[in-house]
Amino acid sequence: MLQQLSAEELPKVEKEIVDFITTSTAHEELKKSMLYSVKAGGKRIRPLIVLATVQAFQKELTVPVYQTAGALEMIHTYSLIHDDLPAMDNDDLRRGKPTNHKVFGEALAILAGDGLLTGAFQLVSETTLSPTENVLLIQLLAKAAGSGGMVAGQAGDMAAEKQHVALNELKAIHRGKTGALLTYAFVAGGILANQTEYVIELLEKLGNHIGLAFQIRDDLLDVVGTTKELGKKVGQDEKLDKSTYPALLGLEGAKKALTDELKQAEIVVQQLAKAADFQPRIFQELLGLFALTK
Ligand code: IPE
Ligand code: IPE
Ligand code: MG
Ligand code: MG
Ligand code: MG
Repeated sequence: MLQQLSAEELPKVEKEIVDFITTSTAHEELKKSMLYSVKAGGKRIRPLIVLATVQAFQKELTVPVYQTAGALEMIHTYSLIHDDLPAMDNDDLRRGKPTNHKVFGEALAILAGDGLLTGAFQLVSETTLSPTENVLLIQLLAKAAGSGGMVAGQAGDMAAEKQHVALNELKAIHRGKTGALLTYAFVAGGILANQTEYVIELLEKLGNHIGLAFQIRDDLLDVVGTTKELGKKVGQDEKLDKSTYPALLGLEGAKKALTDELKQAEIVVQQLAKAADFQPRIFQELLGLFALTK
């Protein structure tokens, strides 16, 4: 099911992003820089969650769904471009390719990020959804991406370099820098599928667990993964003395924390199945993507 979504539906999200960028600017170098990072690939997990959520509620995948999912991936891509900048994580490999600033220079990389960020809101505002739905999706996206969400998490991440932070603080950083956008993916899917407030709350809860699990897994892979399979350099967290789950709890402790979050997520999926006309199978498949296979 998920395989089919990835193969048949994700290209439609891709098309919305590429069409948007292509027509949004007359500045060729800026366009090239934005398209470079978008087309470099990536797992597309956030748009996949949006599509899977809409589908789990047995609703049709429409152009506004692809656009909402595309806008989220644009914001995620911008966050990676900025995350890789010398002032932040100073990485030179991303999605298997040289990082944006290595190819286009720092100024254009910053601006490509700015373009993807602002463009995302324009894209959602231009869908054929009702004005009420549009504003709600834009508002929640702004909250998730901004200084109450991802940006705050990134600020926390930078401040926690070379520091010993408590587990609760680290959790809050992870929930911001990674959890906020992942949670938005579930919630936006629920809104697009016209779900009740209670179901949206469950989706938010699910997103919180998955978001945290995702960053714990990312931190683990930075230790046990390879540059080839991840398309980004491993061992970077230790090099920068980042606050991570493995640094704080050790490998086994971090693996257990990941498993615990996924178990909690599984419980929420069962609650969703009771609360709505909802096909849990696709979500169970989705949860499988967040487990560590080594
Ligand atoms: C990487 O995200 C950054 C984190 C939030 C951990 P992804 O692992 O989803 O990166 P891509 O999109 O596949 O490149
Ligand atoms: C980045 O976390 C999270 C965001 C980009 C918001 P990381 O810094 O761990 O992501 P990677 O490992 O560089 O992909
Ligand atoms: Mg970072
Ligand atoms: Mg990084
Ligand atoms: Mg990382």
